[in-house]
This record gives sequence, structure tokens and C-alpha cells, in this order.
Amino acid sequence: MDIETLKRDFRAVYREEPQVFRAPGRVNLIGEHTDYNEGFVMPAAIDFYTAAAIAPRSDTKVNVRSQSFDRAVSFDIADDLRPKHNWSDYVVGVIDQIRRSGERPRGMDILIQGEVPIGAGLSSSAAIEVAVGFALLNAEHATIDRVQLALLCQRAENEFVGMRCGIMDQFISCNGQRDHALMLDCRNLQFKLLPISPGVSLVICNTMVKHEHAGGEYNQRRADCEEGVRILQKSGPGIRSLRDVSVEQLERHREMLPPVIYRRCRHVVTENARVESAAEALQKNDLRAFGKLMAESHRSLRDDYEVSCRELDVMVEIATAQAGAFGARMTGGGFGGCTINLVVSEHAEAFRKRVTAEYEKAVGLTPDVYITSAADGAARVA
Ligand code: GLA
Repeated sequence: MDIETLKRDFRAVYREEPQVFRAPGRVNLIGEHTDYNEGFVMPAAIDFYTAAAIAPRSDTKVNVRSQSFDRAVSFDIADDLRPKHNWSDYVVGVIDQIRRSGERPRGMDILIQGEVPIGAGLSSSAAIEVAVGFALLNAEHATIDRVQLALLCQRAENEFVGMRCGIMDQFISCNGQRDHALMLDCRNLQFKLLPISPGVSLVICNTMVKHEHAGGEYNQRRADCEEGVRILQKSGPGIRSLRDVSVEQLERHREMLPPVIYRRCRHVVTENARVESAAEALQKNDLRAFGKLMAESHRSLRDDYEVSCRELDVMVEIATAQAGAFGARMTGGGFGGCTINLVVSEHAEAFRKRVTAEYEKAVGLTPDVYITSAADGAARVA
């Protein structure tokens, strides 16, 4: 990141010396559309960050600007805050939640710098929320409860932005650790950090098709899952979410469910089982087994959950055929965005070149391919 430019711009605009905080985007290795079903996910933070430069003011005014977007926003900290349906909602939503949590934030100047690709399914929105939340709370407290911060940022997105996302993105942006994947139980927010062997790279392939799941499809999938739970609850006690349903149980009660709802549930239930197997595989450093689970996850998302698209499928197919590739799947909400690929590091550069050429030929778009490794979560930038 270009922190010096960020600070220089901040001084030029606000005539103050800022403190700078940053939070990463994420890639999900496996466990898709399970977080809002109280299931398991296994994301890693990536080396793409959003930075928030911030300085307190002596009055009660809040000024927010971004280096990537024109429109600045200004308001009084006591104002009734409303969404404007642009990038600033992620910032203002977090400020709103901090106020609701009983804190009394002071006036402040904020300048945002983002390098997480937007609309690519790498959680640029969680990165901005967490960077701002971390900055605001750090200004007031010596220590930050990172789990509470993740929950606060998720509430900002649910309530202010209006996107009913789960906890995964904000959680990993707060708690990620370099060279580790994080297996999270979204029911109780207990997590395990699992080392990723140094010889493998997380290669992210951007289809260059922007996903737009803020409105319709994502929330529809959540509603489908909720309907599945409502119906399955009639089969006996103890079912609070799809997390409580085993594969056998689902098969036994298949007849109760409309076919589409059954397939949605089957994705979630089998995906939870895959994440548990994937954690075992990673602990044994059995990347072949891990890769197989990634392939199954992709198929399930494509056929049962129906959140893939042609470009993602083509990208996965091309990647799977390359030397040194253990596994490939779509990552994030779907309908475009990126795939995640586990690739032997020595092969990563050749993988990038070949996938780029073959995808270009098949789809007519030039993909961005990022060779990354797991990064650290939110932090103050010294
Ligand atoms: C988006 C949401 C997450 C999660 C994924 C799908 O990234 O923000 O909470 O539901 O989709 O796994």
C-alpha cells in the first residue's frame, strides 16, 4: 500500500497528522454459503488491504473521503444517519453501530485508501468496515476485542447497508493470521488457525465478471435455507439451523421438501461436512484430498446452490487441468468474481500464464491472476 501518499493526501486535505489502520480482504478456501447457516467456513486473509487514515477533530463534525471515489461525505456525529447507497455507507454504517453500542465517538476526519478489487468477491466491503471500526475503536481503547469488532461490522452491513451477509468476511479480516487458514465455527465463533504449507500458493483468478449479490439472489438463498429449516423442524426437535441437520437426516426427510429447497439444503449440509474433512486434510498436509473437496464444493455450488456462472465454471475447469494445481473452486458469494486455486508455488507463475491465455481464448476477457499467501488481519500501521 502507498501509506506515504495516503498520509500526504490526508495532510493536504485536512491539515492534520493522521494515524493509519488497515484491514485485509479475504479468500475463502472452502465452506461457502454456510456461515449464515451456523456452519463451518475456512477463509484466509489476503495481502490486499484497505487503509483508513484518521484524526480526531475538536468539534463534532465527521468528514469522510476516499482516494478512489469522488464524493466526500460530511455530517455531525449526533445526526440521524441514513444510507446514501454508495461506498460511504460502509464507513457511516460502522460509525452508526459504534454509536448504538453506547460509545460516543468524537468528531473526526477520515481518508480511505483501498486496494482490494471491488465487486470481485474478495470482501472489499468487510475490509473497509473493519479498517474504519478498528481505527475508531483504537483511537479510544488500548485493546480491541476482535470478535466483537467483527460482529459490529457485520451488523453495520446487515442493518445499514442492507446486505444480509454472514460473519465470515468481517471475522477473517479481524482475525486472519499470516500463512494460516482459519476454520471458524459460525455458531459459537470458536476458531482454529491451520498452517498452510509454505510450498503452496493461494492463487486467485478474477473472472472479471462483477458479482452483484447485494440485493436479490444472496438474500433469496438465505430465505431458501430458512424455509428448509422451517419444514425440517416438523420432523423432530433440535433443529435450529441447517447446521443441526446431517446428510442422512436430510435424505430421510427429502420428501418433505420442495425440490429446489432440498437442493439448497443439500449444498449446505454436504458443504459443512466437506469443511470438516478439509480441516483434517490440511492438518495432515494432504493437499490432494483438500483439492478434491474443493472440486466437490464447486460442483455443489454450481448444481445445487446455483450461485456459479459460466465464467467461473470455465475458470475452474481450465485451472484444474494445469500442472501443480491441487484444487480450484469459486470463492465468495458467487455470480462472478474470483476462483481460489491451491497451486504448488513453483508452478504458480506458469499456472498464471496458461490460465490467462486459455481463459482469454474461451471467454474473451483477460483475467487478473493474483499469486498470494495468507496474510495478517487488521492492524495499526506504524
Ligand atoms: C459473502 C458474504 C459471506 C458469505 C459468502 C458466501 O461473501 O458476505 O458472509 O455468506 O458470501 O460464503
